[in-house]
Amino acid sequence: MACFALVPAAGGGTRMGAALPKQYLPLCGHPLIRHPLATLAAVPAIERVFVVLSPDDGEWDRHEWRDLSDRLSVLRCGGATRAASVANGLAAMAGRVTPEDWVLVHDAARACLSTGHVETLIATLAGDPVGGILALPVADTLKRGAGAEERVAETIPREHLWQAQTPQMFRHGLLAEALAAHPDVTDEAGAVEALGLSPRLVPADATNFKVTFPRDLALAELILESRRKTA
Ligand code: CTP
Ligand code: MG
Repeated sequence: MACFALVPAAGGGTRMGAALPKQYLPLCGHPLIRHPLATLAAVPAIERVFVVLSPDDGEWDRHEWRDLSDRLSVLRCGGATRAASVANGLAAMAGRVTPEDWVLVHDAARACLSTGHVETLIATLAGDPVGGILALPVADTLKRGAGAEERVAETIPREHLWQAQTPQMFRHGLLAEALAAHPDVTDEAGAVEALGLSPRLVPADATNFKVTFPRDLALAELILESRRKTA
């Protein structure tokens, strides 16, 4: 069984509110998406990295990818939602993988993914019957707000609560079937759960956050810079 990576990168970055989709914003001297792609390409257990772009993406070709090109395949088949982009990507890569092969789906916007994160996920799930995801145990007390002033309506016990991250690692055949049956999910695990299966939660850390709002760029830059200095 082989491992492949699939990186959905067809979103518009509405919450970032920038002129470019956030995956192309400059981060440490490169377009943001180069960082997670280079990390995935540097993991020996991953055979190939597939990246899903919007069919009308005009930005990818403005950048230099030659150093990654023997590990990277570009699929211009993004859809209207993240789940549709992933489903289209799975269909486009189908001829190059078997249904039993693992696919690690990773958000392009999680710029600070490390090879350690990926290797932990793969090592933990290698013999797993279902698959699983990187996730972060919730550390803070959780409140549910309500009404116009968002006053506290409820305190939610944090025990057993996790924030889902990516990569999310499932077998190609299972994941394609799950997303076809349940296209309205917000992550791959949600589709697999809807089939009645229980993906495993693999502890990660807060550096694998998703760049979403403008303030997130400075934090991502700090994390990548500090790793570069200690490497
Ligand atoms: N994505 C995608 N296709 C879509 C929507 C999202 O491939 N139709 C990708 C994004 O490019 C991103 C990942 O899914 O790498 C996670 O999505 P998100 O962080 O929500 O990114 P955007 O949808 O681009 O941002 P926003 O929700 O703020 O518009
Ligand atoms: Mg989105």
